[in-house]
Amino acid sequence: MHKITIAIDGYSSTGKSTVAKQLADWLEYVYIDTGAMYRAVTLYAMENGFISEEEFDREALIKKLSEIHLEFKKSSPTAKAEIFLNGKNVESEIRTLDVSEFVSPIATVSEVRKKLVEQQQRMGSEKGVVMDGRDIGTIVLPKAELKIFMNASAEQRAKRRYDELTERGDHVTFKEVLKNVQERDHIDTTRKDSPLRKAADAIEIDNSEMNLEDQFHIILQLAKDRI
Ligand code: C5P
Repeated sequence: MHKITIAIDGYSSTGKSTVAKQLADWLEYVYIDTGAMYRAVTLYAMENGFISEEEFDREALIKKLSEIHLEFKKSSPTAKAEIFLNGKNVESEIRTLDVSEFVSPIATVSEVRKKLVEQQQRMGSEKGVVMDGRDIGTIVLPKAELKIFMNASAEQRAKRRYDELTERGDHVTFKEVLKNVQERDHIDTTRKDSPLRKAADAIEIDNSEMNLEDQFHIILQLAKDRI
């Protein structure tokens, strides 16, 4: 069967990765979570003391970029690929609110973006890929046959992220999570290098009032129309 490339972009916690993973499973495509890559670089910066209080040492991070190796591996053919930072599985560690608080500033660093975009373009060079992020339809895979841009109200997104974090036992308040979602939206849309934008040919989906199943079927139909 003819394969295509699918780019899913949008604001934080819009459920991009859930639908991207469902779609990749259904179509038997490879799923790539680019947010996990920015999160892993952030974790590296935290572990190496490049982040303190409200600031981070941009130059120190840039110097060490060549020492950061990221790969995705699956524990079984049907499992979600998990991210490895220099050989260590960090899939769970990168999802904390601490990492979420620093990831957007780190994602403004052009050297970081250049390194990750190159790796993402290599991983997405063959068709049969669903990739999600902020700049996939605009920068990473501009020729993708299907581009989706996802949005939902900040409150709705914060509620979903808050439920996810508390379910796994993290101690966070709704207010903190909402603040983080709004700050990331602001940094991601206003940064100079590849800001979050809807690509001209992307289809926008606001899922504030939509359940996961309906959303999945809408996007699957859009994909089928292009295959
Ligand atoms: O998708 P997720 O919320 O895990 O992404 C974390 C952060 O990584 C985003 O808020 C954004 O700052 C950054 N990011 C990015 N470009 C991407 C994917 C994520 O700048 N393609």
